[in-house]
Amino acid sequence: MTELEKSPRSSRTILSQLMQPEHSNSQGNVHGGLIMKLVDEAGALACMRHSQGKVVTVAVDRMTFNQPIKIGDLVVLEAEVSYVGRTSMEAEVKVFAENPLTGNKIATNTAYLVYVALDSKGKPVEVPNLRLETEEQKTRFDEGRNRQKHRLSRLG
Ligand SMILES: CC(C)(COP(=O)(O)OP(=O)(O)OC[C@H]1O[C@@H](n2cnc3c(N)ncnc32)[C@H](O)[C@@H]1OP(=O)(O)O)[C@@H](O)C(=O)NCCC(=O)NCCS
Repeated sequence: MTELEKSPRSSRTILSQLMQPEHSNSQGNVHGGLIMKLVDEAGALACMRHSQGKVVTVAVDRMTFNQPIKIGDLVVLEAEVSYVGRTSMEAEVKVFAENPLTGNKIATNTAYLVYVALDSKGKPVEVPNLRLETEEQKTRFDEGRNRQKHRLSRLG
């Protein structure tokens, strides 16, 4: 039976990938499109673990890269469900670039994406509520609700 309420911790997902020469753009840094794909995968996994079913991406907020990621860096993506509606879930994905030789780790960007849970017929299905255990999670949930309102208001 699907749980009615789950904590963000229980679906927290961490993905790591070493950036290899085939991941480079023409300037020799990591291709931004690859990071966007990894961000989508990390967010989708957190939401799949929360809803324990299939999900599809419906919205990706603006993504800004504050620092270049270099070949040889370990990219670490930390994804948590930040807000849930009825069938939709927002994931917060934080991206870090770590030099595995020095241990130096920098935050390169944070992205917010929205996924919808689907049933076996491909129709949106209700997801468990989010059990908010800390003040930080409550604030983030309220911020997620505001972001979702804003996204929907732009659909017209
Ligand atoms: C996901 C999909 C099945 C939803 O269908 P729909 O008819 O819009 O369903 P609904 O109107 O009931 O919306 C479902 C939920 O998504 C939310 N939603 C829909 N469009 C959204 C958008 N652009 N941004 C944010 N949330 C959105 C709704 O608010 C609703 O949330 P709630 O249940 O928590 O209140 C449909 O939009 C779809 O198939 N999209 C393509 C997904 C896909 O292929 N993604 C990969 C892209 S390559």
